[in-house]
Amino acid sequence: MSPGVTVHDTLARPLRDLRISVTDRCNFRCSYCMPRDIFGSSFVFLSRSDLLTFEEIARAARLFVANGVEKIRLTGGEPLIRRDLERLVEMLAAIDGLRDLTLTTNGSLLTPEKAQSLRAAGLQRITISLDSLDDAVFRAMNDANFPVAAVLEAIDAAATAGLAPVKIDMVVKRRINDDGVLDMARRFRDSGHIVRFIEYMDVGNTNGWRLDDVVSAREIVERIGREWPIEPAEPNYLGEVAERWRYLDGAGEIGVIGSVTRPFCGTCTRARLSAEGEFFTCLFAGRGFDLRGVLRSGTPDQEVLSAIANVWRLRADRYSEIRSEATRGTRKVEMYHIGG
Ligand code: GTP
Ligand code: 5AD
Ligand code: SF4
Ligand code: SF4
Repeated sequence: MSPGVTVHDTLARPLRDLRISVTDRCNFRCSYCMPRDIFGSSFVFLSRSDLLTFEEIARAARLFVANGVEKIRLTGGEPLIRRDLERLVEMLAAIDGLRDLTLTTNGSLLTPEKAQSLRAAGLQRITISLDSLDDAVFRAMNDANFPVAAVLEAIDAAATAGLAPVKIDMVVKRRINDDGVLDMARRFRDSGHIVRFIEYMDVGNTNGWRLDDVVSAREIVERIGREWPIEPAEPNYLGEVAERWRYLDGAGEIGVIGSVTRPFCGTCTRARLSAEGEFFTCLFAGRGFDLRGVLRSGTPDQEVLSAIANVWRLRADRYSEIRSEATRGTRKVEMYHIGG
């Protein structure tokens, strides 16, 4: 099957990225994603038989690539909770036509050995979430009492293994961690890593989101720019989510992701596959397409390929651009379910 026959949606956006959630479980309980009062000990996660197998994921991925996908990101929940993930990475890395293979993690399970084995399996780079350098603030935000020092070790492990550039994602919430923005910028200036500051979003239905909690990308850029002058840099590729800013003194770059105040639906090329095989065309969708059902019913490759293409062709999503009081109450999938 020839890779890269690109399919476009109703707004002429090509299918280019696939984000694959490999588990809905996570060992953190970040308040903006899996608040503990809802995701407590009695919460029921997917069972093993619900999850797509690695073989099913790799087959789906190959057919997404045949529809134009060039980049795959593994997510969760926390993807490193899924056992033997290296085996999946190896299968994905072997797909002809894939240009970028990366993973988003909270870093808690990223030992030097794990980083090395992921790299050896073919993972190219990695993004690690870290919301604060202040240990008390970070422990409160992950609500799992997990220390900053261990995430910093994970970042080093990733860099040593050659999973570069390492990106560090900080979700900024007003009055919770926004006074740590400058610390974060300072810590990673000149490190070769790229910190990205993310506007807190109204994903899912459980995080009690309020506009007042959002610190805008503009405000973040202003705060950092006052300390260390910065200038905008060109996007690396069409549809890049992060706006890039370069330090004038040569200390590297930062990114800001303004999903709330500067929505980027117009160039959104991202498809998402949940751990149980639902294919979502938007982070804020209420429902997905049951790809697992198709994969498990003996459907030949060509028909699975067409099913994927048909879902994408009908796509009209642009939630962040039309976000309003009216859309806020609608049912949305949870972020831990389809990944960030
Ligand atoms: P690179 O591949 O390194 O350019 O990263 P990326 O742009 O794919 O970013 P990443 O996957 O690390 O996403 C960072 C954050 O941006 C996510 O955790 C979300 O908060 C936000 N984000 C990513 N994709 C979307 C999207 O399609 N819609 C919205 N609204 N937010 C998104
Ligand atoms: N707003 C913005 N980003 C979020 N993430 C999860 N929930 C939210 C939210 N409400 C993203 C963060 C985190 C990644 C795993 O998912 O980037 O680092
Ligand atoms: Fe886990 Fe990431 Fe969600 Fe935090 S944001 S609870 S680390 S999946
Ligand atoms: Fe894409 Fe939906 Fe995010 Fe808009 S809100 S950028 S359409 S995933």
